[in-house]
Amino acid sequence: MFLTGTMRINEEEHLEIGGCDTVALAKDFGTPLYVMDEKLIRNNCAIYRDTLARLYPNSQVAYAGKAFLTTAMCRLVHEEGLALDVVSGGEIYTALAADFPASEMIYHGNNKTPDEIKMALAHGVGRFVVDSFSELELLDEVAAEVGKMAAIYFRIKPGIEAHTHHYIQTGQMDSKFGLGLSDGQAMAAVKMALNMKHVQLKGLHCHIGSQIFDLKPFQLAAHVMMDFINEIKKKTGVTLKELDLGGGFGIRYQHDDSLYSLAEFVELIAAAVNEKATEHNLPLPKLLVEPGRSIVGEAGTTIYTVGATKEVPGIRRYVAVDGGMMDNLRTALYEAKYEAMVANRALAIGEETVSIAGKACESGDMLIWDIELPKLERGDLLAVLSTGAYHYSMSNNYNRFTRPPVVFVCDGEANLVVKRESYEDLVRNDVMPKHMQAPAKRVKQE
Ligand code: LLP
Repeated sequence: MFLTGTMRINEEEHLEIGGCDTVALAKDFGTPLYVMDEKLIRNNCAIYRDTLARLYPNSQVAYAGKAFLTTAMCRLVHEEGLALDVVSGGEIYTALAADFPASEMIYHGNNKTPDEIKMALAHGVGRFVVDSFSELELLDEVAAEVGKMAAIYFRIKPGIEAHTHHYIQTGQMDSKFGLGLSDGQAMAAVKMALNMKHVQLKGLHCHIGSQIFDLKPFQLAAHVMMDFINEIKKKTGVTLKELDLGGGFGIRYQHDDSLYSLAEFVELIAAAVNEKATEHNLPLPKLLVEPGRSIVGEAGTTIYTVGATKEVPGIRRYVAVDGGMMDNLRTALYEAKYEAMVANRALAIGEETVSIAGKACESGDMLIWDIELPKLERGDLLAVLSTGAYHYSMSNNYNRFTRPPVVFVCDGEANLVVKRESYEDLVRNDVMPKHMQAPAKRVKQE
């Protein structure tokens, strides 16, 4: 077990986050409940922002909203001086609803629709990250139609496939994202963009993967991208002035997930870009990073109430909680592993190995396989750690379960930032066709 940010175990042996007793939070807001440690999120923003500013002044940190986005989160990101990486009309809308300046948004996505592009242009979104030739053509066309200029980066496949514990330098050409370097597509796209009237090529972008522990692949990616900026200069005479190296820095899901610090990560990429700029005699480009998970991941904890338990003799004991793949898709989707503790008996010793099941109608709806925990009773509160990134943002209404609320906790105060969905919310968009509106007529059985 490990404690992050402002977590502590209080005198009542309850888990406390941001000065709030999680047992009281469960009572006040119900379960399942996403609890976010606001101070830890702000601290992580500050580490990225300040370390980068110190080592590489011409830089910008853009928070990757896909990890967790609500209007309050957008406001926090803006207050902390970060830009925002968005990937859909919906994320742009959310940010605008929080008065986040469109000029500080970087718009990603491999299939932006004409309507999304129009919306982004109308609001003055800062950068479009173009993913394909077909998108480049569409963007130029739509920008011409509305009489605007789109400032763009190209998403490049630097040829580095990085996973949690290893990387392959030649891999990942077969990906739906980005334009290849080795097959000449990236260079062809650059040349095409330079001849277009309604797009202005500002720089390059890459993102080599997510939940990466090793620093080496990030360094390699920085080198490859700087080499490409140099090649573009040689072949076209144009020196690109911005380089966005994406996100991907890993977090702790389990206590033995060994990690470098955020500061070490930032130091490494700043050094890598500097090195290559000197080698090629290039001006230092504006450097961007786009962390998502490493800003919010460890700041989130999900609190569940324990319900039914079931012993499968000789095999395992299932302990079911009142959530599941609706609020945490990651175990089912990626075989992700988590640690958990009993929030209302936080010092109790592990007594048995159990598996934590969700309550959805799906055998794969498991949250944690084989975890050692104190003997759990109906009504206990289970806190699953490191659920701040890609949990709320990937939540869903399978089985028509309502999505949990989100609270930000800080200095003893709990502030609701997303309400619990209601049953009315579930039917809000359902429409009864006219011919079924009269009282139900049952088919008579023959
Ligand atoms: N920039 C781009 C272009 C991205 O595609 C991503 C993540 C990020 C930044 C942020 O990466 P981060 O710092 O959060 O690793 N649902 C998966 C993760 C998908 C990541 C997609 N792209 C999960 O739950 O592990």
